[in-house]
Amino acid sequence: MKNYLSLVQTEDGSTTIFNALVGENYHSMHGAVQESQHVFIQAGLNYFMSQHPEKCISILEVGFGTGLNYLLSADYCLEKGIELYYTGIEAYPLPDELIFSTAYNEYVSEAVWESFKSAYQKALLAPMQINTDDTLEVVPIMLSEFSTEKVYDIIYFDAFATANQPEMWSLEALTHVTRFIKPGGVLVTYAITGNLKRIMKSLNFFIEKVPGAPGKREMLRATKLL
Ligand SMILES: C[S@@+](CC[C@H](N)C(=O)[O-])C[C@H]1O[C@@H](n2cnc3c(N)ncnc32)[C@H](O)[C@@H]1O
Repeated sequence: MKNYLSLVQTEDGSTTIFNALVGENYHSMHGAVQESQHVFIQAGLNYFMSQHPEKCISILEVGFGTGLNYLLSADYCLEKGIELYYTGIEAYPLPDELIFSTAYNEYVSEAVWESFKSAYQKALLAPMQINTDDTLEVVPIMLSEFSTEKVYDIIYFDAFATANQPEMWSLEALTHVTRFIKPGGVLVTYAITGNLKRIMKSLNFFIEKVPGAPGKREMLRATKLL
């Protein structure tokens, strides 16, 4: 296992990964599952479904990491009878032994966890293989190199914080990733700054400041205007 990655416990009892090279955790120390549920599932997926009660939905995630956002989304969709197509972009995919030691099985149904365990290696596609019909694709590539013919209903933007990875929050990066969202689609992220709001407005998004997960006052939800 890479020795700069370690599993740590957060305040809600769920685990996250600490990356010593970046000096940052993959999730909030106030609670990994709590943050993921709040930012991505409730403010993103559940909000989108309340506006567009569809039976099939597509999600693109920037920074797939442990797969927690995927697992909770798949669990939500299974419970509601929604077909989910999910693409994760991940520059530094985590090894199986680390991913499967997170104990995230405690937060999702056994069917979701078992299918993730058997699908993860297959889902880790070579970049030239994207555009499959698989329900889970994890593309091992830098965001700037990512391309697909698909467009998505929702983007989960889960990059490291701007203090550690400012390039991920730049006009260039956000212009690139928002090419892959449908009109009316929703981008959610755990953070909000004046610069981020300005960039998203300039990309023709409607901006909402939504209450943040514990530990953060506000977060961003942005809807692509038609
Ligand atoms: C805050 S963590 C995301 C946590 C993840 N969503 C989870 O639930 O475990 C940020 C992720 O972005 C990935 N990453 C860093 N730079 C990247 C880049 N240029 N392109 C794509 N992913 C990147 C990191 O390896 C890390 O997995």
